This record gives sequence, structure tokens and C-alpha cells, in this order.
Amino acid sequence: MNDDPKLPQRPSWENDFPIDRLEAVHVSRREFAKYLTLLSGGLCAGSGWLAVKDRLFPRHRFQGEALVCQTGDVPSGGTWPFTLPGSNVPYILIHLETGEWRAFEQKCTHLSCAVFYQPKEGKIECPCHNGWFDARTGAVLQGPPPRPLPQLKVTLRGDKVFVSEPGSDSPQTA
Ligand code: FES
Repeated sequence: MNDDPKLPQRPSWENDFPIDRLEAVHVSRREFAKYLTLLSGGLCAGSGWLAVKDRLFPRHRFQGEALVCQTGDVPSGGTWPFTLPGSNVPYILIHLETGEWRAFEQKCTHLSCAVFYQPKEGKIECPCHNGWFDARTGAVLQGPPPRPLPQLKVTLRGDKVFVSEPGSDSPQTA
């Protein structure tokens, strides 16, 4: 309670919980450093786990060919997302402006963010940490990704687009 009668009386709850507002929201340098250390440690552990997981559980390889779509479904400069039978790994089919077709895993090789084709640039972008890949080869052009994007072979048969694992036999490659 205030002793000075001219000052407005404090509400009774302030007497029950006499915590100063500045004191309550103040973060000391030590606490902030601790928070940063924990955050960095968490990010390092996450990156390490992703690297180990890639080595321990290599990418699922499928047999034969998989039909993705019709050629008319994807205009020049367009993309078509798909997954392979028996897998939920996202892939992206790209119809390059040069007329060529490419198919890449749609997960960045850095921390697995989704990647997107940028038609005017002819590149694939990972918006998470400004990573860029070559849309023809999947090679890393810029940023933290450590490896190229995993790529599938694209085969056109009539008006159908098929994909298969690189190295498998397919008559015509787009
Ligand atoms: S997750 Fe793609 S650049 Fe970091």
C-alpha cells in the first residue's frame, strides 16, 4: 500500500505479487548467451542427424519406369510435382524452355526444404537459405547445399512422360 495519500492507491494484487515489470522481462547477457548456445546446439544436432540419416538410410531406388503425366500437362517452363510408387518422397518434373525435360527430388540437399524451379533463371531455388541448383544438371550453383539434387532419367514415349532411375535401360531420353 502507498503511504502517501496523494498518490493513487496500488491495486491489492500488486501487494500480493510484488514483481517489478522491468525485472520480470529483463533478460541477462548470460541467459541470452545460454539461449543462443542451446539454439546453435539444436541446429548442429539437426544437421548432423540429417547427414547421418542420409548415409544410414540411402534413397529408395525403384525398378523400371513410372508414368508421370502427359506431355501436354506441362507447358514450356512449367513443372509437375509427383511421387514414385511406394514412396512419399516428393519429385518435380521440369519442362525446360529449351524443350528438354528434367526430374529432380524436390528436397534440398542441405536441410530438406522444398525447392522450386525459377523459369526465367533456368535454376532451381531453395528459399530456406538461398541455395540454387542448375535446372539442367541439378548441380549446386550457390549456397549451403552440399550435394547436387538427386535426379531421375526422363523418357518420352508418344505423349507420355516416364521417369526411371539413372543408369536403367530406356529407349528414348528427353
Ligand atoms: S535447406 Fe536448402 S539451402 Fe538450406
